[in-house]
Amino acid sequence: MTLSLALALFPTVSIIHTHTLYIYCNCTLPPLPPSRYTCDQSPSSSLSLINSSFPFKTHLQEMASSHFPFLGLLLSLFLSHVIVFTYAKVYVVYMGSTDSQDPNEIVLHNHRILSSVHTGSVEEAQAAHLYSYKHGFKGFAAKLTEDQALQIAKMEGVVSVFENTKRRLHTTHSWDFIGLAEEETMEIPGFSTKNQVNVIIGFIDTGIWPESPSFSDAGMPPVPAGWKGICQSGEAFNSSNCNRKVIGARYYHSGYEAEEHNNLEKQQEDEYDDDPKKKVSYRSPRDSSGHGSHTASTAAGRYVQNMSYNGLASGGARGGAPMARIAVYKTCWDSGCYDADILAAFDDAVRDGVHIMSLSLGPDAPQGDYFSDAISIGSFHAVSRGITVVSSVGNEGTKGSATNLAPWLITVAASSTDREFTSKVLMGNGVRIKGESLSMHQMRAPARIISASIANRGYFTPYQSSYCLESSLNYTKTRGKVLLCRHTERSTGSKLAKSEVVKAAGGVGMILIDETDKDVAIPFVIPAAIVGKRMGNRILSYINSNTRNATLRIFASNAKLGAQPAPRVASFSSKGPNALTPEILKPDIAAPGLNILAAWSPAVGKMNFNVLSGTSMACPHVTGIVALIKAVHPTWSPSAIKSAIMTTATVFDKNGKPMRVDPDGRRGNAFDYGSGFIDPTTVLDPGLVYDAEPTDYKSFLCSIGYTEKMLRPITRDNSTCNDRTFSMPSSFNYPAILVPNLKSTFSVSRTLTNVKKQKQRTVYRAVVTTPHGIEVSVRPRKIAFTRYGQKVNFTVTFKVSKPSQGYVFGYLQWKHRNSRVTTPLVVRVAPSNLGATV
Ligand SMILES: *[C@@H]1O[C@H](CO)[C@@H](O)[C@H](O)[C@H]1NC(C)=O
Ligand SMILES: *[C@@H]1O[C@H](CO)[C@@H](O)[C@H](O)[C@H]1NC(C)=O
Ligand SMILES: *[C@@H]1O[C@H](CO)[C@@H](O)[C@H](O)[C@H]1NC(C)=O
Ligand SMILES: *[C@@H]1O[C@H](CO)[C@@H](O)[C@H](O)[C@H]1NC(C)=O
Ligand SMILES: *[C@@H]1O[C@H](CO)[C@@H](O)[C@H](O)[C@H]1NC(C)=O
Ligand SMILES: *[C@@H]1O[C@H](CO)[C@@H](O)[C@H](O)[C@H]1NC(C)=O
Ligand SMILES: *[C@@H]1O[C@H](CO)[C@@H](O)[C@H](O)[C@H]1NC(C)=O
Ligand SMILES: *[C@@H]1O[C@H](CO)[C@@H](O)[C@H](O)[C@H]1NC(C)=O
Repeated sequence: MTLSLALALFPTVSIIHTHTLYIYCNCTLPPLPPSRYTCDQSPSSSLSLINSSFPFKTHLQEMASSHFPFLGLLLSLFLSHVIVFTYAKVYVVYMGSTDSQDPNEIVLHNHRILSSVHTGSVEEAQAAHLYSYKHGFKGFAAKLTEDQALQIAKMEGVVSVFENTKRRLHTTHSWDFIGLAEEETMEIPGFSTKNQVNVIIGFIDTGIWPESPSFSDAGMPPVPAGWKGICQSGEAFNSSNCNRKVIGARYYHSGYEAEEHNNLEKQQEDEYDDDPKKKVSYRSPRDSSGHGSHTASTAAGRYVQNMSYNGLASGGARGGAPMARIAVYKTCWDSGCYDADILAAFDDAVRDGVHIMSLSLGPDAPQGDYFSDAISIGSFHAVSRGITVVSSVGNEGTKGSATNLAPWLITVAASSTDREFTSKVLMGNGVRIKGESLSMHQMRAPARIISASIANRGYFTPYQSSYCLESSLNYTKTRGKVLLCRHTERSTGSKLAKSEVVKAAGGVGMILIDETDKDVAIPFVIPAAIVGKRMGNRILSYINSNTRNATLRIFASNAKLGAQPAPRVASFSSKGPNALTPEILKPDIAAPGLNILAAWSPAVGKMNFNVLSGTSMACPHVTGIVALIKAVHPTWSPSAIKSAIMTTATVFDKNGKPMRVDPDGRRGNAFDYGSGFIDPTTVLDPGLVYDAEPTDYKSFLCSIGYTEKMLRPITRDNSTCNDRTFSMPSSFNYPAILVPNLKSTFSVSRTLTNVKKQKQRTVYRAVVTTPHGIEVSVRPRKIAFTRYGQKVNFTVTFKVSKPSQGYVFGYLQWKHRNSRVTTPLVVRVAPSNLGATV
């Protein structure tokens, strides 16, 4: 098989569409050559039609008319007829807030719009219709041609029309590590979180494996009154699968099936029993991937006494809010999650009565406009109704790759914990090293180690075979040996495949040199371990100086506590700045997302628990903590909850040193971890919060260029951009202050709200750690609070003193005795200002 063939085959295999960096799937993932990994499963062009007079043409028509004017006319006449049948795609038509309109009225209106672009045909309109969104917000999803989409985009009341884009889905010990006791009855000193039984968390994910002990309802009180959700029946799932823990379950597949031309066919149980490589996609809320069960159990799983990954890391484990309720919205299928389905899930969740939504998925960077992205739209309406929405920042790892950028979302970065899964490696010269691995295999005796580059086969160059690409290894040269393979790009899925390639070529072990994600443990199919570049070079020089008899022995993986330093920001965790609105910090917060053990779907690999890495795993840690805050402070707004999480976070590791970032251990900053690593022991008592109302989100949208005309249908109230409370996005009352373009001086105001129930006056004092080369002054410098709910404004002024290039970082802390309310200060001096002085 040639390389190009392997590449061409890639798009059909796509299990990793989540914000999970690594999913165990026990199936062959195709090899990818280094540096050409483009992940092109999602439609390459995301078309977004905001209501405007922008002239819009299909590419076909444009080409025809510019090159052959006359022919073009004929062609486009011909095409406009044919296109209806051949080029219909799914579009989401978003029409803003429901304005408490009758849902039936909305459906009727949607059908009228659809039949009007289908020249009045009711049948065609019905055939094209996928969903009507009518509870949380207004709109629909339908199969449309580009022409029809354009017609609808021009209609009164339509905010945006966009393609049904595919999104990717981006614990046990992690909870003790971040400071919550292990048992289910755990309480945070001074607060009772018993009320978590009244907190309902909605998960937009791959569904749930309801039989998992993590989702047992033993000892749980009846379902909270007022819950309007349902338990939707489907393949291998019926209403008996819901209980007092999993109180609701729905599934959405119309958007997926319309795009993938793939009916989720009913499959027999024994089909996958015999062949674990075969995929199952239950056409029901049942989880066939494992991702959804993993995230739900991380946030809200019950205490399970004996949780382990094939016996590794065994022990008791539970989710963050083990008594909170779970509502399942399965929208993610084998290859990803489509906008049309995500919006349908949001629409139902808002009506069902969830309190929190958790989405471990997101768009590819760079993210599109806020109102042409299902997660931004759905969460805007959810947050406007007091529902907190938590999401993952993404796994692209590079600067500026952060996604889920809207200020109303809580966006989570991934960090390590102090638990590592490592394999010991003993070299023939007596040197002992260790590498990351989840492999249960172990070598009985030392074997020769060679560099994979000298085991190249046929037409493959030594360079190609050094990456252990499929078919690149010569059996004669590989048989019985340990291979030293390379891995440089973030094509994480192929790491497991490399161990399969080496195994197929007769190799008995593998050392994988990985410069980027070396901290992610992978369940290799042979004894194997991942090492960094430095250790890799040491092994290489050992091989080169003992070309005939360099040997090595790899042992089975071990779980080890006490890894140092911890936490560190994971190398794959996507980084700021915010590509859409640089004044808004993203990510907001960091939580454990590296090698997390939690519940799994036995449909994959027949395992009940699994170890996964990704910002997908970090997100539900924050979701669990939001549930605890909600239990203790049920009236707090989503922004107050977010502020409590952000201002109490720490930027120090467990040794009290500044938190570092993998893979090179550089010192971290707010673009790596937001306001820091989450601290559940202090979130319930933040002292002060930076609160915001739904009207502030409107002001924010005005400040970034949304006109009243665009805003009116989104919000459907009488607010205008004139009565906004601020005019610059940096004035949004965010618990972080970012000044991306500081000319000489600039002032920013914030409002603090006192949330400490108190008898006496408390005085907070401002303490600033200045960003390098910037003068910062705070007015007033002392603030006294006398009552609960009191609001006080303050102003921070930034002044350039010694300009430097790029972003510089500092902090503002409001201190009262031992209380600290901390916000990051992030400043970049304007390039013009730099030129003048440097
Ligand atoms: C959309 O555009 C049409 C014509 O261009 C206009 O009549 C209509 O009011 C616009 N709708 C909104 C919501 O701006
Ligand atoms: C659900 O399915 C199980 C197993 O197939 C069956 O025993 C049970 O009766 C079903 N319950 C309902 C309410 O249909
Ligand atoms: C936990 O499970 C492991 C393997 O599955 C078993 O060996 C061990 O005895 C179990 N421990 C308890 C306390 O059940
Ligand atoms: C594999 O290596 C052996 C020994 O070096 C050589 O004879 C054989 O031709 C090679 N096979 C291929 C397919 O490269
Ligand atoms: C194997 O390597 C050692 C050094 O590590 C060397 O002393 C010895 O002579 C080598 N043996 C053979 C058979 O090459
Ligand atoms: C993975 O699949 C192979 C067959 O392809 C099977 O022999 C092996 O036991 C599976 N591993 C796990 C952990 O399920
Ligand atoms: C908007 O204004 C109109 C007329 O002034 C009024 O009838 C309507 O109730 C207002 N709507 C809202 C949501 O305030
Ligand atoms: C704080 O500032 C806002 C506008 O930025 C203003 O509306 C409000 O009245 C101020 N509050 C106090 C207590 O000064």
